[in-house]
Amino acid sequence: MKLSVQKNYEALSRECAKIIRELVASKPNCVLGLATGSTPVGTYEQLIHMYDAGDVDFSRVTAFNLDEYFPIKKSSDQSYYHFMRKNLFDRINIAQTFIPDGEAPDAAAECAAYEEKIAAHGGIDLQILGIGNNGHIGFNEPGDAFVAATNYTPLDESTIKANARFFADESEVPRYAVTMGIRTIFRAGKIILLASGAGKADAIFKALHGPITPQMPASVLQLHPDVTVIVDEDAAGLVK
Ligand code: GLP
Repeated sequence: MKLSVQKNYEALSRECAKIIRELVASKPNCVLGLATGSTPVGTYEQLIHMYDAGDVDFSRVTAFNLDEYFPIKKSSDQSYYHFMRKNLFDRINIAQTFIPDGEAPDAAAECAAYEEKIAAHGGIDLQILGIGNNGHIGFNEPGDAFVAATNYTPLDESTIKANARFFADESEVPRYAVTMGIRTIFRAGKIILLASGAGKADAIFKALHGPITPQMPASVLQLHPDVTVIVDEDAAGLVK
């Protein structure tokens, strides 16, 4: 894994957006894998600035998001559907976007359909990932085994607590989600893992240098041939 330590969150966001812009320039019909959470918001802001300035054209780009709460209404302010529209999709000219459907009648069928849709688009060129404090990627939570394909999964107690900040009350956080699995993520040609702040330092250290274990899901990224970890100085606190 390559480690890129940036001075602060803004520099991290610029660096990630620059890599995305370069990919879109060299492959205008590329497939991006996108993430939610606070961390990529700065990257999305940079992409919107670049788009407004005429520096990038998303008119042939397809995006697949990593995960979605399940069940959740698209109209809910907390859905990742809403998050992506607000923070990126409604503000650029992206051709096609896909997010697991939190309103689907059957979670298992939605997982299988999502997996097929990614394959039908020829797979993901570049996958952006955040990391949970507990090391989760997407909603692949710590557990006894890695799950390969897109799957319906209960959320970890620590994730429910961490994500409660987006909801009126912790009791409103959905208890389940649909997430790309580890094999789904690994099929991406290139992966960028983003982390900002001292709260992520321990997870970043373990992802880069810890044993490869499903108890720390991001550690499995050590096995992918093209991963760049872009962190700010605080998140790099334990690796330097
Ligand atoms: C969420 C998402 C993850 C994200 C993580 C970290 O639960 N499912 O994809 O990476 O939490 O979020 P944040 O960037 O807000 O710390």
